[in-house]
Amino acid sequence: MSHAPVGVFDSGIGGLSVAREIRRALPSEEILYFADTAYVPYGDRTTEWVRNRSLTVGRYLQERGAKVLVVACNTASGAALEALREHLAVPVIGLEPAVKPAVRESAAGRVGVMATTGTLRSDRYARLVSAHGTGATVVAQACPGLADTVEEGILAGEELDRRLEPFVAQLREAGVDTVVLGCTHYVFIRDAIARALGPEVRLIDSGGAIARQTERILRERGELADAGEGSLRILTTGPAHEVAAVVTRIWGDPLPVEHVHVPGEEPISA
Ligand code: DGL
Repeated sequence: MSHAPVGVFDSGIGGLSVAREIRRALPSEEILYFADTAYVPYGDRTTEWVRNRSLTVGRYLQERGAKVLVVACNTASGAALEALREHLAVPVIGLEPAVKPAVRESAAGRVGVMATTGTLRSDRYARLVSAHGTGATVVAQACPGLADTVEEGILAGEELDRRLEPFVAQLREAGVDTVVLGCTHYVFIRDAIARALGPEVRLIDSGGAIARQTERILRERGELADAGEGSLRILTTGPAHEVAAVVTRIWGDPLPVEHVHVPGEEPISA
């Protein structure tokens, strides 16, 4: 049994959709959530940049005592999972778009994947589709700017629908009946995506699977916190007040948010 924190990391607040599943499955765990807000989005950056930055953040969370690192970001997992596993001493759990269950569940054999440009460009994604996409048509839909929309706190309404439309229009045309939410931010706008795609389209994400994997790994290592009430603390490289305001909206309750300075790669201006 260990009361060291579970480190969870994303480019921003999207990974809170994964933290929520971990919280549900493992209510006694302390979760230390890292939102790299000063550098969000990762999705349009180079693979090398994301790999280096993910290593910096992974090392930082390890130094802060994390007993496991959950990379709650498809883009960072696609770019950096192998490197993180090689360089960190703690176990590293990564995320990948839920292509496998989506292909299994699609009656028409037509699956859409909404994700960042970085995720869809990664070798990991190519391997995923060639391993699990056999016999189905898998339509990749990059959604540049959509994670930023969630970071801005635009979670419903006309402005969101307007920004979503070009992405969902192509998926509707492609006739998919199952869509993978391949970016952790998109889970927070699930209702708007569902409405835009229509009632016959099923949406799938990976949050629950990651929570189960986290539980399994901690159990195997004898490191589960199995007594007492856990907590969730957020560290951000961005402005704590602004991040806290959006967190309250997506989480439903306020959570403690602390600004941290984690130097490394320079932010790349747009
Ligand atoms: N939430 C992230 C993902 O799962 C990345 C969004 C971004 O920073 O571009 O892919």
